Amino acid sequence: MNRNVILIGFMGAGKTSVGQCYAGRLGLRLTDTDELIEETAGMKISEIFRQQGEESFRVLETQMLERLLEDGEPKIISTGGGLPLREENRAVLKKLGTVVYLQVQPETVLRRLEGDDTRPLLQGEDVEGKVRHLLGERDRLYRLAADVMVPTDGKSLDEIVEEIEGRVRQDETAGIERP
Ligand code: S3P
Repeated sequence: MNRNVILIGFMGAGKTSVGQCYAGRLGLRLTDTDELIEETAGMKISEIFRQQGEESFRVLETQMLERLLEDGEPKIISTGGGLPLREENRAVLKKLGTVVYLQVQPETVLRRLEGDDTRPLLQGEDVEGKVRHLLGERDRLYRLAADVMVPTDGKSLDEIVEEIEGRVRQDETAGIERP
């Protein structure tokens, strides 16, 4: 790995778990945009949504990406599920490194996030409808942002990381060979 690797995808796709496993193998600490935003803002994401609204949170995500762009040390970066929605963020992601889309089925998201109260966008009634709707809407944008796509359903963390490593290597080689 000679550039940043950035994990994108829907809530519950495993960006943080996969990122921790991947970073651990390389002897690195995972860089997580949600965690950095919470540290900088001094409050939880659910609190930012409640006090300032989703749009303010999206601005914080853009600022965080720009900060990461200034840092030259190669990292494994996991992102919030909505970060690639803004076009300007997708442009920064491309500059930041190899973007890996962790694909996940709605059923897996629902199983993993059952009872979760930390995701403001998946609270209240009809969580299943929300997951299906948002995932359907976002898949196109995740694909637009991605250099590499990795289906994750039914795979172990190690299997996913190995697949990412292989695909990232291919992508980096292709980048060197591109005129
Ligand atoms: C969001 C995903 C969350 C977090 C925030 C908004 C989204 O991160 O950034 O609740 O819009 O999909 P995870 O993908 O890590 O759950």
